[in-house]
Amino acid sequence: MSNQLEQVKALMELREKARLGGGQKRIDSQHSKGKYTARERITMLLDEGSFEEFDMFVTHRCTNFGMEKTTFLGDGVVTGYGTIGGRLVYIFAQDFTVIGGSLSETFAKKICKVMDIAMKVGAPVIGINDSGGARIQEGVNALAGYAEIFQRNILASGVIPQISAIFGPCAGGAVYSPALTDFTVMSKGSYMFLTGPKVVKSVLGEDVTQETLGGASVHASKSGVAHFAVNDEVEGIESIKELLSYLPQNNMEKVPELPTNDPIARKEDFLNDIIPDNPNKPYDMYQVIASIVDDGKFLEVHKDYARSLIVGFARFDGISVGIVANQPSVLAGVLDSNSSRKGARFVRFCDAFNIPIVTLEDVPGFLPGTQQEYNGIILHGAKLLYAFGEATVPKITVVLRKAYGGAYCVMSSKHLRGDINYAWPTAEIAVMGPSGAIEILYGKELAEAENKDAFKADKEKEYRDAFANPYNAAKYGYIDDVIEPRNTRFRVIRALRQLQNKKLSNPQKKHDNLPL
Ligand code: HXC
Repeated sequence: MSNQLEQVKALMELREKARLGGGQKRIDSQHSKGKYTARERITMLLDEGSFEEFDMFVTHRCTNFGMEKTTFLGDGVVTGYGTIGGRLVYIFAQDFTVIGGSLSETFAKKICKVMDIAMKVGAPVIGINDSGGARIQEGVNALAGYAEIFQRNILASGVIPQISAIFGPCAGGAVYSPALTDFTVMSKGSYMFLTGPKVVKSVLGEDVTQETLGGASVHASKSGVAHFAVNDEVEGIESIKELLSYLPQNNMEKVPELPTNDPIARKEDFLNDIIPDNPNKPYDMYQVIASIVDDGKFLEVHKDYARSLIVGFARFDGISVGIVANQPSVLAGVLDSNSSRKGARFVRFCDAFNIPIVTLEDVPGFLPGTQQEYNGIILHGAKLLYAFGEATVPKITVVLRKAYGGAYCVMSSKHLRGDINYAWPTAEIAVMGPSGAIEILYGKELAEAENKDAFKADKEKEYRDAFANPYNAAKYGYIDDVIEPRNTRFRVIRALRQLQNKKLSNPQKKHDNLPL
């Protein structure tokens, strides 16, 4: 064999060794826990044969605690780029088979390298987390590595989409990188927490499991840390692919349109009769969304969190949009602290990445009471207000029924630079609902009335006739048109097409001071 052939053979052997990560025993152990390896995850995520790996021969440089005897090619994280649906993405996948996926100085440098390139070329970064956290033997070098990643997460925010998958442990300060990214997907059995159950027990005396402290369902329903909770890794990977299809490559590009056979002017007759006669009766906003978007397809974000507001992605005539919709069947669609934060975060994401926003409104107002006030509903509500107000992407609003009080202003109203604001004939746009208004306007008369119910009913009718309709707002041009509900899809598509070349910018500033 020639020297060159031998060198090529040696390269192949080295590559083979690197691909084995922490070795077959640890790979088997990973599989026995129902988990895939870093490389298997990358293979499932990327288009076949598209993966190009970086830094396969990197090893750590630590000599503390005899670590020089424990080196692995690639050092616990697999990094590189490839395509998903033909579109370029950068990726890193932590390899639990190598020293528990713990993060060393060189491990962090590998991640930083892909993040830097992704920023330069303008493509999304996907990070798959499965790690025991900072490599304890490396001390401050591991901490420095995390901070270098955080810094890049911050600079990349609003420039390229950043998506995190949590497919194993993610504990301690390590949680802050996913938290800085745009979307977090968690699989069942994975967990995220600042401090584990043992410390929680010793400091607070609380008995918790990893699952109840920071499992996928906890973060998807209680904390809002996870945008998607999935049953397994395969489902998680599919949800990342689907999510990416709605996103642009970076903040300077638009999302590619996806041609559809769904007719633009599809009428949905049932929408003309979906609003119950009793204004306090709920209906299901999901039905409305499914009936107006392309092929009924809707990718919901934060599905189980703050459910009185629905947010997610869909398409109209192939155009990717963000949908923000009150859900009358959960707490009457009220805005509370969590739903306000959820909506604000979503609206800001869409605005940063040139995704038009379609708002479907049926909101009785903000949730009152001490719990909400102590929770800072004023500040959280202001976040949603701020987000809609600063957004410069095309904004289309449809008021289906209630648009009361501050919530009218907040939900992408004309006054917050809503571009096209439609209302259904069933819209009720007023300072507050009839019952509350009559109590305030006629408190004294009501107390003195012989037949209180009849007096109230009479006054409520008067109020309803005056305000519980869209025409008062339409009279002032705050509503551009009152539309037939069954034509909503067509009217939204027309509005989106009209707004395709919208140009609007906010005043120059270092950055804003969003009420955090
Ligand atoms: C070095 C680590 C490690 C770590 C795991 N390993 N975590 N090595 N530093 N942080 C090693 C183990 O020694 C073991 O090596 C191998 O990885 C697999 O770990 P096991 O414990 O055998 O696996 P398992 O039983 O599945 O438990 C997984 C685990 C546990 C729950 C993640 O390893 C664990 O609790 N690790 C420590 C978690 C932690 O507290 N990290 C620090 C968080 S604070 P061998 O050779 O036996 O296979 C932090 C600060 C970040 O990260 C700050 C950023 C600002």
